Amino acid sequence: MKNRKGIILAGGTGTRLHPVTLAVSKQLLPLYNKPMIYYPLSTLMLGEMRDILVITTPLDQPMFRRLLGEGEDFGIRLTYAVQKEPRGIAQALSIAEDYLDGAPSCLILGDNLFYGQGLGPRLRQANHQSEGATIFVTHVNDPEHYGVVEVDALGAPTSLQEKPRQPQSNLAITGLYFYDAQAPKLTQKLNPSPRGELEITDLNRLYLDQNQLNIEYLGRGHCWMDIGTHDRLAEAGQFVRTIESRQGLHIGCPEEIAWSHGWLDQARMKSAIAAHGGTTYGNYLKELVTKK
Ligand code: DAU
Repeated sequence: MKNRKGIILAGGTGTRLHPVTLAVSKQLLPLYNKPMIYYPLSTLMLGEMRDILVITTPLDQPMFRRLLGEGEDFGIRLTYAVQKEPRGIAQALSIAEDYLDGAPSCLILGDNLFYGQGLGPRLRQANHQSEGATIFVTHVNDPEHYGVVEVDALGAPTSLQEKPRQPQSNLAITGLYFYDAQAPKLTQKLNPSPRGELEITDLNRLYLDQNQLNIEYLGRGHCWMDIGTHDRLAEAGQFVRTIESRQGLHIGCPEEIAWSHGWLDQARMKSAIAAHGGTTYGNYLKELVTKK
């Protein structure tokens, strides 16, 4: 199996966050002390993906490049692509087809925050699964706003619905999807939904129909948030602040993950520290190096 490549979908109009997102991409907004995209990027890196495609709107791409460069500060290789119009999450797989070049993929939404004990090993396990698709699901109190999965007594998936009026369960499908090499081709079979989008739930249903959809359940010890509204933006920022100030450990720090994987050498870390000067972020990176 080729190495799995990551895809961050960071396009869309961010309409629900207007006027905040009129001039700035949602995924560049601050989530407490970091740009939002740092968090999904860190999730992919925790899962040991080093080749990552960042999909943005044409207008916003220069800002993402300015922020993340080619990934050299994080020990990874970043490539950029544009989505001209937001025609659905599944479109990311078509856009990524040439980039993937037959490799399996992991798609993450650029506004999704994942946090919890043992997440890294769970992601690495999904990364090393060679066939089928893996989705991560979690209990929420408003499943009607998400993709929802119904499971049998053994926890195996039996059906999937996108934003059902009457959800069959409280299990929401999070914006993190592992696919084998078939995904871009399967996406070609999809038709736009009534809202005019290629639905990721429809792609996942094709895997379910082939009996190739694995479910990973994130339990109470995990936090998943998607930042679609002003309240969510504030809540997620507050969540990061609370954990970080209590523990003194950062959430979503790509340099820390790269350092722990051995992807950055001393010289690179030193230049990252210098780039952040005497800021709290720079000081945090400095402590990481002296701890080792
Ligand atoms: O967050 C998880 C949920 O994401 C899943 O439970 C749903 O099954 C899935 O459909 C999706 O739900 P939403 O419809 O709420 O996603 P939304 O349209 O808000 O898009 C999610 C992010 O992806 C958003 O930050 C913008 C970006 N996006 C979205 C679309 C449709 C794009 O970059 N391009 C797109 O074409």
